[in-house]
Amino acid sequence: MTTLDQIDVFDQERYLDGAPYADFAVLRSQAPVFRNPDPQLPEGHWAVTRHRDVVHVAREPQLFSSERKGSQPLEFDEVAIDVQRRMMIHQDPPKHSRVRTLVSRGFTPKVVEQLRPDIERECDLIVDAALEKGELDFVEAVAAELPLVVIAEVMGIPREDRHRIFAWSKAIAGESDDEHGGAELTRQAVVDMSGYATELGTSRRRCPVDDIVTRMVSADDKGNQLTEEEFQAFFILMTVAGNETTRYSIAGGVEAFAQFPGQWARLKAEPGLARSAAEEIVRWVSPTKVFRRTATADVELGGSVIKAGEKVMAHITSANRDETVFADPDVFDIGRNPNPHVGFGGGGPHFCIGKHLAVLEIELMFAALARRVDRIEITGPTPRLRSYQFGGIVGMPARVVPA
Ligand code: HEM
Repeated sequence: MTTLDQIDVFDQERYLDGAPYADFAVLRSQAPVFRNPDPQLPEGHWAVTRHRDVVHVAREPQLFSSERKGSQPLEFDEVAIDVQRRMMIHQDPPKHSRVRTLVSRGFTPKVVEQLRPDIERECDLIVDAALEKGELDFVEAVAAELPLVVIAEVMGIPREDRHRIFAWSKAIAGESDDEHGGAELTRQAVVDMSGYATELGTSRRRCPVDDIVTRMVSADDKGNQLTEEEFQAFFILMTVAGNETTRYSIAGGVEAFAQFPGQWARLKAEPGLARSAAEEIVRWVSPTKVFRRTATADVELGGSVIKAGEKVMAHITSANRDETVFADPDVFDIGRNPNPHVGFGGGGPHFCIGKHLAVLEIELMFAALARRVDRIEITGPTPRLRSYQFGGIVGMPARVVPA
């Protein structure tokens, strides 16, 4: 039996095989708001692990700030945090509300639903290519390809530039993992991507077309408009947030179906389950594993007193396996209903803006696979990102067998 003093859910090594699910279960039952070790803070930080507390932290931005010290799990100096604050994910209301309102126009369920035929077509093209190859790296050939194509379409990025965007977003998201990025690569990628965003924004201002970028760089009916800097920051945030997480969901979904073959048979028999399967995949994989906040006042949560200024890590992975909310949380069930998972955040001002788009992509990809593929055999090891922040399979040798 693990004792509390052996637990460290901030140790990246413990995420190489998935996530420390057993440790999270101990924390949920014995110390739901736990003082976890932190290599940068001698006093440690607070690990919040129950579903209801994760939701509470997400919905109380005045008590749990994204802006004070940013929403990155690592500690940065004030100069660096100030640069991060250009992105809305590191802002609190009311500052956050301005950009959020402007960019939300591009991501309503109605706008996203219009993309369905295009995304369906892209899924078919990707599955065609996969079936032709037969043996492939599933992450590269399928899971990575779809979100890249979709973001490129949504943002009006020319096809020939897609792979530059992929390389930059990989370098930026891989910051906490030296094997898959490293700080220098990250810095260069941010500079290059900002330059790219400026060019794109300028060209849409000059020659408006019917796309999200044009909508974003032009004024709304009240005359509000993103500044050039706000657009750059949003462009980077969206590409990184959208590509990595959706890719990890698709790859993690294939792994889940391999572990639960009965669910694969069920999806093939009942294709209408693809939508709820997409939600269950996000619960199961929890591609964004944790979000960080800083307490603005002394506050009692889950039996612990968090002091003003202390760091709070809200563990999505743990909340998504909370046995008081989900029946059989360690079972992958594509028909799970209700499924109040917090994979896209726990509600509140920062709830994922790309949720509808991500669910549509995952739904349509698994619908296409279930229709056209008999089975996907994983033929070798599936290494993961060494990260407590993003849950990701980075390679998946596989054989795709046609239906
Ligand atoms: C399965 C895929 C995805 C997952 C699991 C995911 C997860 C999340 C989570 C947990 C947050 C909240 C972070 C926090 O509270 O600090 C978030 C925010 C965000 N996501 Fe997603 N996301 C996904 C896909 C996308 C896509 C496709 C896009 C863009 C097209 C996107 C854009 C964003 C943005 C811009 C924010 C910041 C919102 C704000 O600060 O107001 N995400 N996402």
